Amino acid sequence: MAAERTLAIIKPDALEKGVIGQIVNRMEENDLKVVAMRMMQLSKEKAEGFYAVHKDKPFFGELVTFMTSGPVVVMCLEGKDAVAKWRTVMGATDPSKAAEGTVRADFGTDIQCNATHGSDAAETAKQEIAYFFENSDIVKYEWN
Ligand code: CMP
Repeated sequence: MAAERTLAIIKPDALEKGVIGQIVNRMEENDLKVVAMRMMQLSKEKAEGFYAVHKDKPFFGELVTFMTSGPVVVMCLEGKDAVAKWRTVMGATDPSKAAEGTVRADFGTDIQCNATHGSDAAETAKQEIAYFFENSDIVKYEWN
């Protein structure tokens, strides 16, 4: 499969734990190149828009409160099969069910405060990347 892109978010709980570097390390170890990266504080509106697909879920309000509780690092990752690969590296949504050695098993707290986000499909990834980045924000490496 050709290189594809996915959206990753390092969530407020991981920033509070001081593990940005360790999470980026997992990306790099797995040949996921960071092609855009931005630290930001999400507004309520931005977080609600991002998670709009979950707006009818019982946890939506708490999820928005959590995602706006501190800064996040939003990243575009590129690599072979990047969407599936980043989801594998992250592990299951619930850290208590995530495979040993995954990001969420190692750095997540609970099903809500689960350290990272990753797009669930190539089409979603395109929309999520565009929600945070302009095309001109995404770099190209000379040494591909
Ligand atoms: P994420 O992969 O970013 O996608 C949706 C987020 O909602 C998920 O990670 C968790 O942070 C949160 N979430 C999913 N399921 C639940 C749940 N049952 N209770 C609370 N939060 C949840």
